[in-house]
Amino acid sequence: MHRSIDWADGAIVVIDQTALPAEYRLLELRTIGELAGAIKRLAVRGAPALGAAGALGVALSAHLGGDVRADAELIANARPTAANLAWGVERALAKLPAGKDAVLAEALALLTEDEELNKAASAHAAEIVLAECPRRPLRLLSHCNTGRLATVGWGSALGVVWHLHERGLVESVLVGETRPLLQGARLTAWELAQAGVPYRVHADSAAAAAMARGLVDCVLVGADRIAANGDVANKIGTYGLAITARHHGVPFVVVAPSSTVDSKLADGARITIEERDARELTEYAGVPITPPGAEVFNPAFDITPAALITAVVTEHGRFRPWLSSPGARS
Ligand code: MRU
Repeated sequence: MHRSIDWADGAIVVIDQTALPAEYRLLELRTIGELAGAIKRLAVRGAPALGAAGALGVALSAHLGGDVRADAELIANARPTAANLAWGVERALAKLPAGKDAVLAEALALLTEDEELNKAASAHAAEIVLAECPRRPLRLLSHCNTGRLATVGWGSALGVVWHLHERGLVESVLVGETRPLLQGARLTAWELAQAGVPYRVHADSAAAAAMARGLVDCVLVGADRIAANGDVANKIGTYGLAITARHHGVPFVVVAPSSTVDSKLADGARITIEERDARELTEYAGVPITPPGAEVFNPAFDITPAALITAVVTEHGRFRPWLSSPGARS
């Protein structure tokens, strides 16, 4: 499999995540408008992959001789919740005075690091899962997609599954379908199938029943933005899973690279939550499913309070919100 996002011959190349699992196809994004469109419709998605998209977008603008600062703002604002998007933009933009080659080199370095950092974060998280959960082999529950597709090439929460599977410690993964855009059913299930990890897809609303029946040893999720106090913004439904996990005494572990930590935000209440198009709920595969004119409530993310989370884990280990430096080592 290719990286989820890369640079080739003057273009940003992404795996089109809107087409999977029916079709594996690559998209070449040659303008800033094409990149912003791909981000908005989730052809490239997942917080770490968005960080790479931000950095490569600045490199593309510099390569095209565009108004790089204006383009950078446009890209950074394409989606509001994932901290990594503006972080990636700013990191590449800082190299602009050194010229377009320096900007591209920085973006490509960020891509390589992303894989290393997610491998490290998920390795730390795997040890925490093993310490928290006595049963072997493990039955894990995943929400949204936090794998290779959501990062540049390894995965955050799903990266924990890869580490544990390599050691023969995974019995199966329960995959929340993740309404309304089905990142779990379409993307996570596809990645698990590719890797030969046993999995079962469930309706999001079945997660509580699975925990009540004792079928889940640990819930593993990623993050889009982590506030300084450890509150986590992640795919809609994460908060409900955390409440349910607490009720049933199931460990709830969040895995993300430290680029997802927004130390400027004191708590999760200050995180901007993206509201998406009503048609994601009023239509299914293009067919209307609600009465004409139905109003919808369609937040793409929710906030899980730190108090409900067993551990937030970055490449530095367990995130300790009570220490002044976010990402401080455990
Ligand atoms: O709307 P999406 O698909 O971009 O949402 C993605 C998520 O919520 C992921 O859980 C998060 O970005 C972490 S991905 C490693």
